[in-house]
Amino acid sequence: MAKKPDQTTTVEYDRAGGVEVLESRPRPLPPPGHREVTVRIICAGISHIDGFIRSGNEADWDEPWPRRSGSDFSGVVVAVGDQAAPFRVGSDVIGHVRSGAHATFVNVPVAALVPKPRGVSWEAAGGMFLAGATALDILDQLKIGPSDTVVISAAAGGVGSIQAQLAKHRGATVIGTCGDRNFDYLRQLGIKPVRYGDGIADRIRKAAAGAPITALIDNFGQDGSTLAEELGLPEKRHRSSADRRETELRLLQADPESVAYGTQLLSRLAVLAQARGFTLLISGLYPLDEIREAYADLQKLHSRGKVLIGTNMVTTFRTLRARDVHEAAG
Ligand SMILES: NC(=O)c1ccc[n+]([C@@H]2O[C@H](COP(=O)([O-])OP(=O)(O)OC[C@H]3O[C@@H](n4cnc5c(N)ncnc54)[C@H](OP(=O)(O)O)[C@@H]3O)[C@@H](O)[C@H]2O)c1
Repeated sequence: MAKKPDQTTTVEYDRAGGVEVLESRPRPLPPPGHREVTVRIICAGISHIDGFIRSGNEADWDEPWPRRSGSDFSGVVVAVGDQAAPFRVGSDVIGHVRSGAHATFVNVPVAALVPKPRGVSWEAAGGMFLAGATALDILDQLKIGPSDTVVISAAAGGVGSIQAQLAKHRGATVIGTCGDRNFDYLRQLGIKPVRYGDGIADRIRKAAAGAPITALIDNFGQDGSTLAEELGLPEKRHRSSADRRETELRLLQADPESVAYGTQLLSRLAVLAQARGFTLLISGLYPLDEIREAYADLQKLHSRGKVLIGTNMVTTFRTLRARDVHEAAG
């Protein structure tokens, strides 16, 4: 039987700052505790909120120093503590942690794990939690369903691309804002693309072809209330980026109720991904030791889907990143 790991490589930082403060460090790994397992991480997502916390913009973030990076992951259970059922050594899992997913191994409560469905890739599973749970939670808040025509901004981005597909899967008509290069992608998903920028309300109304717009979800760091007003939407049918931030921060709390809530959303996402209710698109996949480049890519704000970290990259082949395509086109 393989020796249980007693060390992990984890991405940490000692002070607030840009990507330059991130360091990969070896750390001792204690055996998993009561109702905990050790997961060998295969893939992990990166998110803007990680960057906001790291840069000090989230002033109320209360974790001790050094702080760790990353909240969503996929991997394999390699050691179990007591009462870790239903997970055992060899279980493929998807999970979430408040921080520390950018690592080779992590100890995690079983309450924060769900089984990885066979039909979902390691990459899709690794980037699923924060973007997917945020997307799903906001669709739930607005009760998006077949009678809706919903506008989703940054519909090709990390959160937006999952949210737009899930809204479509619920039977809604979906209008997604994006740049020109993402029109084909959104059309392939059955989403009506509309270019962001001046005059957007007219373009949205044209895309709706007479159907009343029933909801607006702003994913692009903007308030969106002017647009909501222009579209004649009451406040309760609009979610701003500030609302999204609150949802994300709630999903990153460590109290048992928040963890259980996040895991319940993750479990629904795993079922939806297996059923092809959405496909998590990979915008870029970077080895763990290139985490700074991964964040720099994300911060270009032209991801198509999720930027991911892999711990076991077996090739130096680099996929063409959405950013490169965008810059080449520009
Ligand atoms: N926690 C927070 O405080 C918080 C909460 C919500 C949102 N945000 C911000 O919202 C943004 C999107 O979040 P995400 O995680 O989905 O990120 P993302 O994956 O980085 O989003 C990238 C997408 O945004 C699109 N985009 C670029 N400029 C746009 C514009 N002016 N209007 C609408 N869409 C535009 C891009 O489309 P093209 O490539 O086609 O241009 C790309 O598909 C980020 O800037 C994030 O910082 C922050």
